[in-house]
Amino acid sequence: MSAGDFDFAERRVLISAGPTFEDIDPVRFIGNRSSGKMGFAIAQAAARRGARVMLIAGPVHLPTPDDVQRIDVRSAAQMHAAVLAQLPADIYIGAAAVADYTPREVAPIKMKKRPGQETLVLDLVRTPDILAELAAHAQRPPLVVGFAAETDRVAEYARGKLIAKRIDLIAANRVGIAGCGFESDDNALEVFWHDGERSLGPAPKAQLADALLDLVREQWCLRAGR
Ligand code: PMT
Repeated sequence: MSAGDFDFAERRVLISAGPTFEDIDPVRFIGNRSSGKMGFAIAQAAARRGARVMLIAGPVHLPTPDDVQRIDVRSAAQMHAAVLAQLPADIYIGAAAVADYTPREVAPIKMKKRPGQETLVLDLVRTPDILAELAAHAQRPPLVVGFAAETDRVAEYARGKLIAKRIDLIAANRVGIAGCGFESDDNALEVFWHDGERSLGPAPKAQLADALLDLVREQWCLRAGR
């Protein structure tokens, strides 16, 4: 079967994409770098292959792919709530670059610089780990797929996340270099599962999305005994 056939028909696929922005005050925030291109490409490919796709998108400037339902969020807390509210699903793919920390408190008015104040210390707290929480949820999707964005020791860190977060598949990409990872149109993925791995690309993100879905489908069929 080739990509484009309806091999995801009737599958309910939940996808997160883009960054989250964690507000410091009404004019400032901290966030991760992500354009949303990788997650949106997966959403588009899954919908074309017949899936019912729900896309939870952080703040990005991308049009909604055809036949995809979309919920826009801003913060990690909002993404967490929106993802959990969409359960049950058959497959979850976490392509979002979720901020790991958020300010403990959001200042209600713009913070002013005081004379002589040369440094600012922010009190940050951990955000919920959406991927790990979903993998441990009573309504766990049968297939949970994560991403790993790494600057170094890509395979080692990705495999660590696969195990620690108790997920089924992880797509690792190197970030911090031109031509792959965040913001670019192309990417390269090292995909790991518990007893295997495969390299995909370098290729345009649209092409990688289909190649990743081929692997997701393989894992789905293995689990279903087909
Ligand atoms: O959007 P683009 O510009 O196209 O770039 C694509 C991408 C580089 C952002 C994408 O391919 C990617 O790697 N996304 C995951 C980025 C990331 O945050 O990786 P991580 O290694 O920090 O997180 C590991 C996994 O845990 C990810 O699936 C992430 O969604 C998830 N996570 C992380 C923290 C958190 N609080 N909740 C989570 O669910």
